Amino acid sequence: MQVDFLREKFLKFFQSKKHKIVESDSLVPKDDPTVLFTPAGMNQFKKEFLGFDSGFKRAATSQRCLRTDDLDKVGKTSSHHTFFEMLGNFSFGDYFKEEAIAWAWEFLTKELKISRDRLWVSVYKDDFEAYGIWKDKIGIPVKKIVKLGDKDNFWPAEAKTKGPNGPCGPCSEIFYDFGVDIGCGKPDCSPACSCGRFVEIWNLVFTQFNRKDDGTLESLPNKNIDTGMGLERLASVMEGKQSNFEIDLFAPIVKEIKKRITVKIASEKEFVYAIADHLRAAVFCIYDGVLPSNEGRGYVVRKIIRKSLLHLKTLGINEPLMNKLVPLVAQVMRVPYPDLKDKQEDIALVILNEEKNFINVLGSSEELFKSKFDAFIEKPDSETVGNVAFMLHDTYGIPLELTCQWLDKHKVCFSRKAFEQAMEEQRLRSKSGSAMKGDVFDAKGLGLKLDATKFTGYKENST
Ligand code: ALA
Repeated sequence: MQVDFLREKFLKFFQSKKHKIVESDSLVPKDDPTVLFTPAGMNQFKKEFLGFDSGFKRAATSQRCLRTDDLDKVGKTSSHHTFFEMLGNFSFGDYFKEEAIAWAWEFLTKELKISRDRLWVSVYKDDFEAYGIWKDKIGIPVKKIVKLGDKDNFWPAEAKTKGPNGPCGPCSEIFYDFGVDIGCGKPDCSPACSCGRFVEIWNLVFTQFNRKDDGTLESLPNKNIDTGMGLERLASVMEGKQSNFEIDLFAPIVKEIKKRITVKIASEKEFVYAIADHLRAAVFCIYDGVLPSNEGRGYVVRKIIRKSLLHLKTLGINEPLMNKLVPLVAQVMRVPYPDLKDKQEDIALVILNEEKNFINVLGSSEELFKSKFDAFIEKPDSETVGNVAFMLHDTYGIPLELTCQWLDKHKVCFSRKAFEQAMEEQRLRSKSGSAMKGDVFDAKGLGLKLDATKFTGYKENST
């Protein structure tokens, strides 16, 4: 498979440049309470970035990552994922911009033989050093070097003004140009345009500052390099596919789902792609020991599975299916994760349980609606109804459309504003746990403001 070839080629290339090949960290970061899931390759190296000596100054990884910030976009766009692999090379106070740029260029144009005509780059607007390296050392024509600001070319994005505190720096991105026939067709179209003609394939971060509490950027004594290249996206470019979901990694999963579709809808592709993505995410979360539950990481896994089940239902698939696709994930991921095969039955069982429970919840939703909303037929209270609708959505995963159908039929007033407000509060709570927030490099806890956990198992069988 192309992804296996690319992963290996990347790691071997950086091994030849004296990098230590380090195993991917778990999706559950070790010793890092600031993030729920590993969102990037650099996460396992936070202490090395701060100067801790692990005995090596260069590393390269293919890190399994999970990001949930863009959950609703997955399947709708060509390149958003929850679960993905990030290829990265890192320098801890060793090489800096010149080598990072030269090696990235060498890997893409010499090893992978991507035509240099297809590649564009961006640099941070004030980073004259990176600009000069691309222009003079690599020989990129100036019209193909785009200067971008804090949102696009500083990492973490907008860290300068909004934080988090800790090491950060300007970045330089490498883009693949699908050509003038794709996208907006405007003569001045560039990587700054979001029409789809350009796709970012590699982000080179020059971690040279330490952001302090008062927002000042202190120069780090050691300059570091942190790069990240989405493996699925690189594969799509190499396979000449415009969507990550069309690469060979997803093909068998997509095919199996499509075979079972009984209801034809316009957005079929989007739903199938989202299910394929979420399946991989759920499998790898469970592989890393995160079981579906109602809080923290477990809640994310539950939400991802339930979202897929709702998509499956829309496609007319009402029987548990995801569990049956687990062996396919083990199959496509067998090279980097040969042990997944041994765990596939256990993982499938966890998913099956979750599928059965949620399909039951959906089946008994009529009863649930009656018990929760009957009282409001006589005594209208749209705000409470909005909050309860959110609770049903949040706790049982019942989609709002289903709830609204029932409320309409029984003429129960509903405040969408109250629903949305409760949703926003929940989003902020979960964002504080799942995104990189606060001091990226300081352990300050997840800030979820949950009550202390009480063990009730002496008196209750379930709670
Ligand atoms: N840490 C950088 C990113 O995630 C490379 O884009």
